[in-house]
Amino acid sequence: MTDDAVTITLEVDGRAETVTVDADTTLVDLLREKFGSTAVRAGCRNGDCGACTAVVDDRCLKTCLVLAGRADGTSVTTIANLGTEEQPSPVQRAFMAEYAFQCGFCLPGMLLAAEGLLARTKNPSDAEIRDALSGNLCRCTGYVNVVRAVRRAAEATD
Ligand code: FES
Ligand code: FES
Repeated sequence: MTDDAVTITLEVDGRAETVTVDADTTLVDLLREKFGSTAVRAGCRNGDCGACTAVVDDRCLKTCLVLAGRADGTSVTTIANLGTEEQPSPVQRAFMAEYAFQCGFCLPGMLLAAEGLLARTKNPSDAEIRDALSGNLCRCTGYVNVVRAVRRAAEATD
């Protein structure tokens, strides 16, 4: 720990904690290292891939671009809070039904971005789906099944 440390309190998936970290710690590292939220992936670390997406006070953010200190007093939701293997959310069910992932590295961020879109827009067009997911890169799927899955989830929750 350097002299430039910050002490912050935040809630992650319903668990509130006060932690002290170096001032240059990013939120993705805080979530992974202090909260054990390893489904928040550390991918490119420069805002390009979306793998580190989490919901911070109702906003989908790329947590590699957020300093941990900025998360003081916030409530963070990760993919761990959306559904379980036994009880997946409608969006998770749709991704499974449409085979919308392969290696799964992008999946947590992709699912959170899709959930965010469907919370804002009930019946998004394919163009709106592609636009909403444009910050989330997938090197496996080609996106066709991803768009189909989000459309399926929209229809299921209509
Ligand atoms: S790790 Fe944050 S956008 Fe890639
Ligand atoms: S499923 Fe492999 S990166 Fe998206």
